[in-house]
Amino acid sequence: MNYKEYIYRLGKEDFYQFLLDYGKGVRLLEEGKEDVVFAVYEPLQGFEPVEVREIKVITPKEGFKPIALGEFVVLPPWLKPIFINPGSAFGTGLHPTTQMCLKAIEDFFVEGWSAIDVGCGSGILSIALKLKGANKVVAIDIDPQAVQECKANAKLNHVELEVYQEQPKDINQTFDFMVANLETHIFFEVMEDLVKLFEKRAVLSGIYKKDELREMLKLLRNYPLKVKRRISKKGWFCLIVDKI
Ligand SMILES: C[S@@+](CC[C@H](N)C(=O)[O-])C[C@H]1O[C@@H](n2cnc3c(N)ncnc32)[C@H](O)[C@@H]1O
Repeated sequence: MNYKEYIYRLGKEDFYQFLLDYGKGVRLLEEGKEDVVFAVYEPLQGFEPVEVREIKVITPKEGFKPIALGEFVVLPPWLKPIFINPGSAFGTGLHPTTQMCLKAIEDFFVEGWSAIDVGCGSGILSIALKLKGANKVVAIDIDPQAVQECKANAKLNHVELEVYQEQPKDINQTFDFMVANLETHIFFEVMEDLVKLFEKRAVLSGIYKKDELREMLKLLRNYPLKVKRRISKKGWFCLIVDKI
């Protein structure tokens, strides 16, 4: 949250008279021999501030971060921990593409929707969808190791996922939401099948640098999709698209 701080300079006598009249506290910044510099949080009628600054006020939610203490991690109750057993499947949460998908799920997934996670890897995004209140999550991957690890991580997080070693073309169901953190060349191979999988919204991640983004946006023009938001991190792009 951002607030403004108004800085004023007054002669000492005027300042102490003002303080009596004002009747509220002020923040003293500098007390010289002749004058006083102070801050208040609303503009003062009839006085010209020497400076107006933006100040950030931290809410408890912003301020209270996880604390790691040896074997223990202390978390505030509004955070949603995801346990991932480090294995060979992609998806520990360290990669920018995964991080952007998690943020997109936080901001654009609607509680109660069904979802499919294409290229689930460790299952991190499927687990996040469940924690955000998905009524059903199907996770698919072509890599048998990823399927095994995704199932194990679902158990570890006490969430129910349907996990299959399948490709998008093998799935004969539709979902409200899809997340697909793949590589751009894979989108080119399977976009026709991906578009059939979701009815409302999708997150498409794994697009690297502006050239791939341009190609991807061009590809999307062939389908009934509208780009709702574009996010980027460390050269990677993630698109949130709506079916139209
Ligand atoms: C970049 S990883 C994403 C892992 C995890 N979802 C994440 O966001 O961290 C991409 C995954 O897609 C899988 N994959 C690649 N091509 C696929 C396809 N045609 N159908 C399903 N999965 C595919 C890979 O095996 C890999 O596990």
